[in-house]
Amino acid sequence: MPNNIQKEKSADSKKICVISVTSGKGGVGKTNIVANLAYLLSQMKKKTLIFDADCGLANIDLILGLTPKYNLYHVLTGEKTLKETIINGPGGIKILPSSSGIQELTSLSKGQKFALQDELNSLHSRPDFMLIDTSAGINENVMYFNMVAGDIIVVVTPEPTSLTDAYALIKVLYQRHAKKRFRLLVNMVKTEDEAKEVFIRMAQATNHFLNLSIEHLGYVLYDENLALAVKKQKLLAELYPGSPSMDCLRDIAVKLCQPSQEPEDHDGIIRFFN
Ligand SMILES: Nc1ncnc2c1ncn2[C@@H]1O[C@H](COP(=O)(O)OP(=O)(O)O)[C@@H](O)[C@H]1O
Ligand SMILES: [Mg+2]
Repeated sequence: MPNNIQKEKSADSKKICVISVTSGKGGVGKTNIVANLAYLLSQMKKKTLIFDADCGLANIDLILGLTPKYNLYHVLTGEKTLKETIINGPGGIKILPSSSGIQELTSLSKGQKFALQDELNSLHSRPDFMLIDTSAGINENVMYFNMVAGDIIVVVTPEPTSLTDAYALIKVLYQRHAKKRFRLLVNMVKTEDEAKEVFIRMAQATNHFLNLSIEHLGYVLYDENLALAVKKQKLLAELYPGSPSMDCLRDIAVKLCQPSQEPEDHDGIIRFFN
Protein backbone atom coordinates (compact mmCIF):
# COMPACT_ATOMS: atom_id res chain seq x y z
CA MET A 1 0.00 0.00 0.00
CA PRO A 2 2.57 2.65 0.93
CA ASN A 3 4.30 1.82 -2.35
CA ASN A 4 1.12 2.54 -4.27
CA ILE A 5 0.67 5.83 -2.50
CA GLN A 6 4.25 6.69 -3.33
CA LYS A 7 3.61 5.86 -6.99
CA GLU A 8 0.47 7.98 -7.09
CA LYS A 9 2.35 10.85 -5.54
CA SER A 10 5.24 10.74 -7.96
CA ALA A 11 2.78 10.56 -10.89
CA ASP A 12 1.00 13.61 -9.52
CA SER A 13 4.10 15.69 -9.12
CA LYS A 14 5.57 14.67 -12.46
CA LYS A 15 6.36 17.69 -14.55
CA ILE A 16 4.60 17.90 -17.90
CA CYS A 17 6.84 19.34 -20.55
CA VAL A 18 4.48 21.68 -22.37
CA ILE A 19 5.71 22.73 -25.79
CA SER A 20 3.81 24.91 -28.22
CA VAL A 21 4.50 24.53 -31.91
CA THR A 22 3.59 27.79 -33.53
CA SER A 23 4.18 29.96 -36.59
CA GLY A 24 3.48 33.38 -38.00
CA LYS A 25 2.19 32.01 -41.27
CA GLY A 26 -0.02 28.99 -41.90
CA GLY A 27 0.94 25.98 -44.00
CA VAL A 28 4.53 25.79 -42.77
CA GLY A 29 4.18 22.21 -41.47
CA LYS A 30 3.25 22.57 -37.77
CA THR A 31 0.60 19.86 -37.71
CA ASN A 32 2.73 17.30 -39.51
CA ILE A 33 5.73 18.12 -37.35
CA VAL A 34 3.70 17.83 -34.14
CA ALA A 35 2.19 14.49 -35.16
CA ASN A 36 5.49 12.92 -36.20
CA LEU A 37 7.38 14.28 -33.20
CA ALA A 38 4.69 12.91 -30.89
CA TYR A 39 5.06 9.50 -32.52
CA LEU A 40 8.85 9.58 -32.13
CA LEU A 41 8.63 10.70 -28.50
CA SER A 42 6.21 7.84 -27.79
CA GLN A 43 8.70 5.44 -29.36
CA MET A 44 11.24 6.86 -26.92
CA LYS A 45 8.87 5.81 -24.11
CA LYS A 46 7.72 9.34 -23.40
CA LYS A 47 3.96 9.59 -22.94
CA THR A 48 2.88 12.28 -25.35
CA LEU A 49 -0.38 14.16 -25.66
CA ILE A 50 -1.14 16.35 -28.65
CA PHE A 51 -3.29 19.31 -27.79
CA ASP A 52 -4.88 20.37 -31.04
CA ALA A 53 -5.36 24.07 -30.49
CA ASP A 54 -5.95 24.90 -34.13
CA CYS A 55 -9.63 25.23 -34.80
CA GLY A 56 -9.01 25.67 -38.50
CA LEU A 57 -8.93 23.11 -41.26
CA ALA A 58 -6.49 20.22 -41.75
CA ASN A 59 -6.10 19.47 -38.09
CA ILE A 60 -4.47 16.48 -36.49
CA ASP A 61 -7.44 14.09 -36.52
CA LEU A 62 -8.02 14.82 -40.19
CA ILE A 63 -4.46 14.06 -41.28
CA LEU A 64 -4.62 10.82 -39.25
CA GLY A 65 -8.07 9.81 -40.49
CA LEU A 66 -9.51 9.79 -36.97
CA THR A 67 -13.10 10.74 -36.24
CA PRO A 68 -13.27 11.86 -32.65
CA LYS A 69 -16.67 11.83 -30.95
CA TYR A 70 -15.92 14.68 -28.62
CA ASN A 71 -13.54 17.58 -28.67
CA LEU A 72 -12.24 20.52 -26.71
CA TYR A 73 -15.66 22.17 -26.95
CA HIS A 74 -17.29 19.42 -24.85
CA VAL A 75 -14.58 19.82 -22.22
CA LEU A 76 -15.03 23.56 -22.04
CA THR A 77 -18.81 23.30 -21.73
CA GLY A 78 -18.39 20.70 -18.99
CA GLU A 79 -20.25 18.00 -20.96
CA LYS A 80 -17.26 15.65 -21.03
CA THR A 81 -14.10 15.30 -19.02
CA LEU A 82 -10.71 15.58 -20.62
CA LYS A 83 -10.22 11.85 -20.09
CA GLU A 84 -13.42 11.05 -21.98
CA THR A 85 -12.40 13.33 -24.83
CA ILE A 86 -8.80 12.29 -25.42
CA ILE A 87 -8.44 9.71 -28.20
CA ASN A 88 -5.69 7.26 -29.11
CA GLY A 89 -3.54 7.92 -32.15
CA PRO A 90 -0.93 5.71 -33.82
CA GLY A 91 2.00 4.43 -31.78
CA GLY A 92 0.40 5.20 -28.43
CA ILE A 93 0.08 8.94 -28.87
CA LYS A 94 -2.91 10.64 -27.25
CA ILE A 95 -4.82 13.42 -28.92
CA LEU A 96 -7.11 16.06 -27.53
CA PRO A 97 -9.12 16.96 -30.63
CA SER A 98 -9.95 20.50 -31.54
CA SER A 99 -13.32 21.62 -32.73
CA SER A 100 -13.11 22.96 -36.23
CA GLY A 101 -15.80 25.40 -37.09
CA ILE A 102 -16.81 26.16 -33.54
CA GLN A 103 -16.41 29.90 -33.50
CA GLU A 104 -16.71 30.36 -29.74
CA LEU A 105 -13.39 28.65 -29.35
CA THR A 106 -11.46 31.24 -31.27
CA SER A 107 -11.31 33.29 -28.11
CA LEU A 108 -11.55 31.44 -24.82
CA SER A 109 -12.90 33.26 -21.80
CA LYS A 110 -10.83 33.50 -18.64
CA GLY A 111 -13.12 31.02 -16.89
CA GLN A 112 -12.71 28.51 -19.71
CA LYS A 113 -8.94 28.90 -19.61
CA PHE A 114 -8.82 28.18 -15.89
CA ALA A 115 -11.20 25.23 -16.23
CA LEU A 116 -8.96 23.80 -18.91
CA GLN A 117 -5.88 24.17 -16.75
CA ASP A 118 -7.64 22.48 -13.82
CA GLU A 119 -8.66 19.56 -16.01
CA LEU A 120 -5.13 19.11 -17.30
CA ASN A 121 -3.70 19.12 -13.81
CA SER A 122 -6.14 16.48 -12.65
CA LEU A 123 -5.46 14.00 -15.49
CA HIS A 124 -4.85 10.61 -13.97
CA SER A 125 -2.17 9.46 -16.32
CA ARG A 126 -0.16 12.57 -16.85
CA PRO A 127 1.84 12.79 -20.05
CA ASP A 128 5.58 13.50 -20.15
CA PHE A 129 5.08 15.82 -23.10
CA MET A 130 2.18 17.92 -24.23
CA LEU A 131 2.66 19.27 -27.74
CA ILE A 132 0.31 22.11 -28.59
CA ASP A 133 -0.46 22.52 -32.27
CA THR A 134 -1.45 26.17 -32.41
CA SER A 135 -3.02 28.04 -35.27
CA ALA A 136 -0.89 30.57 -37.13
CA GLY A 137 -0.66 34.29 -36.47
CA ILE A 138 -0.92 36.56 -33.49
CA ASN A 139 -4.52 36.28 -32.35
CA GLU A 140 -5.41 36.10 -28.66
CA ASN A 141 -5.75 32.33 -28.64
CA VAL A 142 -2.33 31.72 -30.16
CA MET A 143 -0.85 34.10 -27.59
CA TYR A 144 -2.55 32.22 -24.75
CA PHE A 145 -1.26 28.80 -25.78
CA ASN A 146 2.24 30.19 -26.27
CA MET A 147 2.03 31.81 -22.84
CA VAL A 148 1.15 28.58 -21.05
CA ALA A 149 3.85 26.62 -22.83
CA GLY A 150 7.20 26.21 -21.16
CA ASP A 151 8.90 26.00 -24.52
CA ILE A 152 8.00 27.62 -27.81
CA ILE A 153 8.97 26.09 -31.13
CA VAL A 154 8.57 28.56 -33.98
CA VAL A 155 8.28 26.82 -37.34
CA VAL A 156 9.47 28.69 -40.43
CA THR A 157 10.22 27.81 -44.04
CA PRO A 158 12.73 29.55 -46.33
CA GLU A 159 9.85 31.58 -47.79
CA PRO A 160 10.38 35.28 -46.96
CA THR A 161 6.79 35.83 -45.77
CA SER A 162 7.09 32.95 -43.34
CA LEU A 163 10.11 34.70 -41.82
CA THR A 164 8.58 38.15 -41.58
CA ASP A 165 5.41 36.72 -40.01
CA ALA A 166 7.43 34.63 -37.54
CA TYR A 167 9.44 37.72 -36.62
CA ALA A 168 6.20 39.61 -35.91
CA LEU A 169 5.01 36.74 -33.68
CA ILE A 170 8.27 36.58 -31.73
CA LYS A 171 8.25 40.35 -31.32
CA VAL A 172 4.77 40.37 -29.77
CA LEU A 173 5.49 37.41 -27.48
CA TYR A 174 8.73 39.01 -26.32
CA GLN A 175 7.67 42.62 -25.97
CA ARG A 176 4.11 42.20 -24.73
CA HIS A 177 4.27 38.85 -22.96
CA ALA A 178 7.88 38.74 -21.74
CA LYS A 179 8.64 35.43 -23.46
CA LYS A 180 12.37 35.12 -24.03
CA ARG A 181 13.04 31.62 -25.21
CA PHE A 182 12.26 30.73 -28.80
CA ARG A 183 13.48 27.61 -30.58
CA LEU A 184 13.46 27.92 -34.35
CA LEU A 185 12.64 24.93 -36.52
CA VAL A 186 13.31 25.44 -40.22
CA ASN A 187 11.08 23.21 -42.30
CA MET A 188 11.04 22.27 -46.00
CA VAL A 189 14.71 22.99 -46.70
CA LYS A 190 16.77 21.30 -49.38
CA THR A 191 19.98 21.19 -47.38
CA GLU A 192 21.29 21.76 -43.87
CA ASP A 193 23.14 24.82 -45.18
CA GLU A 194 19.90 26.35 -46.37
CA ALA A 195 18.48 25.87 -42.86
CA LYS A 196 21.56 27.57 -41.37
CA GLU A 197 21.11 30.56 -43.67
CA VAL A 198 17.44 30.89 -42.72
CA PHE A 199 18.28 30.66 -39.04
CA ILE A 200 21.04 33.26 -39.29
CA ARG A 201 18.73 35.68 -41.10
CA MET A 202 16.12 35.33 -38.37
CA ALA A 203 18.61 35.43 -35.49
CA GLN A 204 20.25 38.55 -36.87
CA ALA A 205 16.88 40.29 -37.07
CA THR A 206 15.86 39.40 -33.51
CA ASN A 207 19.33 40.29 -32.20
CA HIS A 208 19.51 43.58 -34.01
CA PHE A 209 15.98 44.88 -33.54
CA LEU A 210 14.90 43.19 -30.32
CA ASN A 211 18.24 42.46 -28.64
CA LEU A 212 16.98 38.90 -28.32
CA SER A 213 18.82 35.67 -29.07
CA ILE A 214 16.93 32.73 -30.43
CA GLU A 215 17.93 29.10 -30.53
CA HIS A 216 18.23 26.82 -33.54
CA LEU A 217 16.30 23.70 -32.61
CA GLY A 218 16.80 21.99 -35.94
CA TYR A 219 15.58 21.62 -39.49
CA VAL A 220 13.44 19.23 -41.51
CA LEU A 221 14.23 18.48 -45.14
CA TYR A 222 11.64 18.92 -47.87
CA ASP A 223 10.20 15.44 -48.35
CA GLU A 224 7.77 14.34 -51.04
CA ASN A 225 6.90 11.26 -49.00
CA LEU A 226 5.17 13.53 -46.53
CA ALA A 227 2.44 14.42 -49.01
CA LEU A 228 2.03 10.71 -49.80
CA ALA A 229 1.66 9.92 -46.11
CA VAL A 230 -0.90 12.72 -45.67
CA LYS A 231 -2.90 11.34 -48.63
CA LYS A 232 -2.98 7.92 -46.99
CA GLN A 233 -3.88 9.53 -43.65
CA LYS A 234 -0.85 7.92 -42.04
CA LEU A 235 2.21 9.38 -40.40
CA LEU A 236 5.49 9.72 -42.26
CA ALA A 237 7.04 8.09 -39.18
CA GLU A 238 4.87 5.00 -39.74
CA LEU A 239 5.07 4.73 -43.53
CA TYR A 240 8.55 5.99 -44.33
CA PRO A 241 10.64 5.76 -41.17
CA GLY A 242 13.80 5.63 -43.31
CA SER A 243 13.16 8.99 -45.01
CA PRO A 244 15.98 11.53 -44.61
CA SER A 245 13.48 13.99 -43.13
CA MET A 246 12.75 11.43 -40.40
CA ASP A 247 16.41 11.60 -39.32
CA CYS A 248 15.95 15.36 -38.91
CA LEU A 249 12.82 14.83 -36.81
CA ARG A 250 14.56 12.19 -34.72
CA ASP A 251 17.39 14.65 -33.90
CA ILE A 252 14.76 17.17 -32.79
CA ALA A 253 12.90 14.61 -30.63
CA VAL A 254 16.18 13.72 -28.89
CA LYS A 255 16.89 17.41 -28.27
CA LEU A 256 13.45 17.88 -26.72
CA CYS A 257 14.23 15.13 -24.21
CA GLN A 258 17.43 16.81 -23.09
CA PRO A 259 16.99 19.07 -20.09
CA SER A 260 17.75 22.62 -21.06
CA GLN A 261 21.10 23.83 -19.76
CA GLU A 262 20.45 27.37 -20.79
CA PRO A 263 19.43 30.09 -18.37
CA GLU A 264 16.36 32.08 -19.41
CA ASP A 265 18.54 35.08 -19.96
CA HIS A 266 21.10 34.55 -22.66
CA ASP A 267 20.93 37.80 -24.55
CA GLY A 268 23.64 38.51 -27.03
CA ILE A 269 24.59 34.94 -27.80
CA ILE A 270 23.22 33.16 -30.81
CA ARG A 271 23.07 29.48 -30.08
CA PHE A 272 23.65 27.68 -33.27
CA PHE A 273 23.21 23.98 -33.95
CA ASN A 274 24.40 22.86 -30.54
N1 LIG B 1 9.09 18.79 -44.73
C1 LIG B 1 8.10 18.85 -45.61
N2 LIG B 1 8.29 18.43 -46.90
C2 LIG B 1 7.29 18.47 -47.79
N3 LIG B 1 6.04 18.90 -47.53
C3 LIG B 1 5.78 19.33 -46.28
C4 LIG B 1 6.78 19.32 -45.25
N4 LIG B 1 6.21 19.80 -44.11
C5 LIG B 1 4.93 20.08 -44.41
N5 LIG B 1 4.65 19.80 -45.71
C6 LIG B 1 3.36 19.98 -46.40
O1 LIG B 1 2.92 21.31 -46.18
C7 LIG B 1 1.50 21.36 -46.04
C8 LIG B 1 1.13 22.09 -44.77
O2 LIG B 1 1.50 21.31 -43.64
P1 LIG B 1 0.74 21.43 -42.25
O3 LIG B 1 1.42 20.51 -41.31
O4 LIG B 1 -0.73 21.25 -42.44
O5 LIG B 1 1.06 22.96 -41.92
P2 LIG B 1 0.44 23.91 -40.76
O6 LIG B 1 -0.06 23.02 -39.67
O7 LIG B 1 1.59 24.77 -40.33
O8 LIG B 1 -0.63 24.71 -41.41
C9 LIG B 1 1.01 19.91 -46.09
O9 LIG B 1 0.49 19.66 -47.36
C10 LIG B 1 2.25 19.10 -45.82
O10 LIG B 1 2.16 17.86 -46.47
MG1 LIG C 1 -2.01 22.88 -38.85
